[in-house]
Amino acid sequence: MSVIDHLTQITNVLVIGCGGAGLRSAIEIKKSGLNVCILGKRPKTDAHTVLAAGGINAALGNLDKEDTWEQHFIDTYLEGYGIGDPLKVEIMAKESPALVKEIDKWGANFAKLKNGELDQRFFGAHKYRRTCYSGDFTGLSILKTLLKKSEELKIPIYDNQYVTELLIRENTCFGAMSFNMTSSERTVHFADAVILCTGGHTRLWKKSSSRKNENTGDGYYLGLKAGCKLIDMEMVQFHPSGMVLPEEIEGTLVTEAVRGEGGKLINNKGERFMKNYDPKRMELSTRDKVAIANYTEIVEGRGTKNGGVFLDISHKSKDFIVDKLPSIYRQFLESQMLDISKSPMEVAPTAHYSMGGILVDPETLSTSVEGLFAAGEVAGGLHGANRLGGNSLAEIIIFGKRAGIASSKFSKKIDKQLRSNKIIALAHENIDKFIKKGDELVRPLQHELRIIMWTYCGVIKNQKSLLEGLSRIETIKNKLNYIDVRIDKHNCEDLYLIFDLQSSLLSAKATILSALERNESRGAHQRSDFPKLEISNNFNCLVSMDEKSNLKITKVPLKELNEKLKKIIANKTREEDIKDKLIE
Ligand code: FUM
Repeated sequence: MSVIDHLTQITNVLVIGCGGAGLRSAIEIKKSGLNVCILGKRPKTDAHTVLAAGGINAALGNLDKEDTWEQHFIDTYLEGYGIGDPLKVEIMAKESPALVKEIDKWGANFAKLKNGELDQRFFGAHKYRRTCYSGDFTGLSILKTLLKKSEELKIPIYDNQYVTELLIRENTCFGAMSFNMTSSERTVHFADAVILCTGGHTRLWKKSSSRKNENTGDGYYLGLKAGCKLIDMEMVQFHPSGMVLPEEIEGTLVTEAVRGEGGKLINNKGERFMKNYDPKRMELSTRDKVAIANYTEIVEGRGTKNGGVFLDISHKSKDFIVDKLPSIYRQFLESQMLDISKSPMEVAPTAHYSMGGILVDPETLSTSVEGLFAAGEVAGGLHGANRLGGNSLAEIIIFGKRAGIASSKFSKKIDKQLRSNKIIALAHENIDKFIKKGDELVRPLQHELRIIMWTYCGVIKNQKSLLEGLSRIETIKNKLNYIDVRIDKHNCEDLYLIFDLQSSLLSAKATILSALERNESRGAHQRSDFPKLEISNNFNCLVSMDEKSNLKITKVPLKELNEKLKKIIANKTREEDIKDKLIE
């Protein structure tokens, strides 16, 4: 194919990803008077945002008057074991109250108290009730609201476009190459600025709360190849409660809201075992602790016969359950014929959230590549080593909005746009090279990778397992030379799957290399050969890619707390906040 065999599309800002962060950023761009266009690879009404079930955090103090943004900052920063970016955490804690109220007014219609204020539920490790919600479908309410707003603003969304490459010249991003996921027709998108909102990479694990073909690490691949750095890729969050059965949907999320509304974790001896792990906070301990507790009970033989532990909410009335947890009620009924108001569920840890990601400026979400921004799960820096439930939905609207504002300013300020036909021709070649006959098929290789990541880089890992994982990933990578990719006018599934796999392999490697650098256990990163947190490991781990596509790891000092934040922590923390965290 020559360089002219594509459509051309021109916009001020191009947003890649049509979940909550992408939509929220596009709304801001359009409001600033610029043109914006959104590309997505999933149906826009079913972006991954819909799976963030239980709620969105804002220190509104509607039920617990003592709550403040400062306490939200402390809970987030310290429960992240002090490796998050303090400024990013401060921004989130300060800005979420206004933006949560805004999206409620736009139509998210969160649950209300009798006085009309937003209701707030407990979520793990938050000192106060801080999580606003719509039943157990908060992400869906938010996504629908943002879609409605985008429609009102006439923002074009193309949700069948697969982006293969960012177009970069002289460390400046001037657009992206995509193809139509049905017809394979290619489009070159020229833009002054590009925002990546492509989600994470937790579909790489066999047990995952992500669905097929989503969270395959696409943004990390695009970012690394463009020249960005990734931060703390080893920090992959395992949610304590994924479904155990049926096998086809193993790992599907059972929202933390079940525990927030009183659900109890019980082992096969009938013990409420969290008393052995965090007797004060019990089921509402941090995600890392509850996930490790569930994992330990299962591997030490106190689990259910299907390989889980029990999560029981049946002491609550059916009316209460159907009101507060309608989707979970139906999810178990439909998939297992289980009435959770009568019987306990079986749950086990599941890969849920990528806490690391593209290194960005916390205020503008700009990357080290001119004109390239990243927001939402694809960006790193906010959650440190352990994300608190409910912070991800806050993250997408706050940093989505900020990326929208910053990219608009960038677009308005530039007076020339670089282009390069050579770079575009190369992007075509990078698609063409995959279209050929061979002996290897993508789906089985994807399946193999998921088993590798679960087995060798799972909830608990060690140097030996990580090295074994790395070598197996290389074996899969070599098989790409023999891949079979066939397309016709009406189907190019093989083509987008091979790009998914290419991204997944690179993201998996970045994750394992980072995990090998961190010789300690901290939050979600648990190493059986280094079971303790070490203050000498107070660093962030960066991954970059050289011209030969080799990955390089660098350890950098943590961002320091400024004097004001240091004082907030000194004045407000409790003993248990800092226990085991080794914060200097
Ligand atoms: O459990 C949940 O509802 C997940 C929420 C989150 O990850 O923020």
